[in-house]
Amino acid sequence: MYSKIIGTGSYLPAKTLTNFDLEKIVDTSHDWIVSRSGIVERHIAADNELTSDLALQASLKAIEAAGIGSDQIDLVVVATTTPDQVFPSTACILQDKLGIRNDCAAFDMQAVCGGFVYAMNTADLYIRSGQAKTALVVGAEVMSRIMDWNDRTTCVLFGDGAGAVVLQASESPGIVASKLHADGSHHGMLKAEGNIRGGVVQGDPFIKMEGQAVFKFAVKVLSSVVDEVLEENHLQGSDVDWLVPHQANIRIMEATAKKLGLSMDNVIVTVATHGNTSAASIPLALDTAVRDGRIKTGQNIILEAVGGGFTWGAVLIKW
Ligand code: ACO
Repeated sequence: MYSKIIGTGSYLPAKTLTNFDLEKIVDTSHDWIVSRSGIVERHIAADNELTSDLALQASLKAIEAAGIGSDQIDLVVVATTTPDQVFPSTACILQDKLGIRNDCAAFDMQAVCGGFVYAMNTADLYIRSGQAKTALVVGAEVMSRIMDWNDRTTCVLFGDGAGAVVLQASESPGIVASKLHADGSHHGMLKAEGNIRGGVVQGDPFIKMEGQAVFKFAVKVLSSVVDEVLEENHLQGSDVDWLVPHQANIRIMEATAKKLGLSMDNVIVTVATHGNTSAASIPLALDTAVRDGRIKTGQNIILEAVGGGFTWGAVLIKW
């Protein structure tokens, strides 16, 4: 038994914030941001938009693409580091907004930017063990609410958004390997120490990051975890049709692709238009490449991410 992606969806809030807009807020420049990160603009949620609202829009598109009814979903996993509130989970709130009233488990996955690969790995295990048949797996974030808009070293990098996939039990291959890791000894390298209530952060909310240390760590662990899932399936970098990386930074993606011996022509890159949306960035990129026809049946697709914790992982999919 495998888990197969049968539908994808994504959502970006209407409001955009360009690098030129940021030049008016902090001492930065469009050229600096593009050269260091590849980001041109990011989307910012409206004041009354919660993570669950973004998640709902992405989920509705994924469910429509899958051609199922939401009442068929028996597992909802939401990867987020910016939940609507301390509890209940954003997954339960999303379940309610989707009107899912059948027997269905729902929970959040907190692995920051690594959240979507953690959520995919977990949903896959539920499906392969027979505990779920149809899972909605979502990455959704309002990173703008944990930004210090006076800190140019972080506020230029992040954005808001959501992406979703519907995973269903299948006899033909879908997810063929996935691997997760964490190393909590680095928890101070990238952190936000506040809490969220009603979509508003309480306490010291802001992201703090040792940018260069994060960069080096990310490149090292991403290529090695991709190698792990490839080796498990006796594949090499040259067998990968599409790498769909966490969209943190174009330079991290380029360095990882280089270490894997992959051309950037085989990497799905959407960071320019939405910045680092943490757990939402992989399903946003995946949905883009599915809808524009780059991702096709039979291809080998790799999802990979690293995030605060540190957490990291990769998922190999036979599409
Ligand atoms: N605009 C202009 N100048 C800036 C800005 C800015 N927004 N931010 C920092 N600078 C300045 C610094 O103050 C420094 O000035 P100084 O030399 O006078 O002291 C100079 O630019 C160089 O700063 P560095 O930190 O050395 O810049 P670097 O080339 O390392 O780029 C960056 C910084 C983009 C944060 C980089 O380290 C990076 O990409 N790190 C990875 C971070 C990341 O992607 N995090 C995402 C979260 S984790 C994840 O998703 C995996």
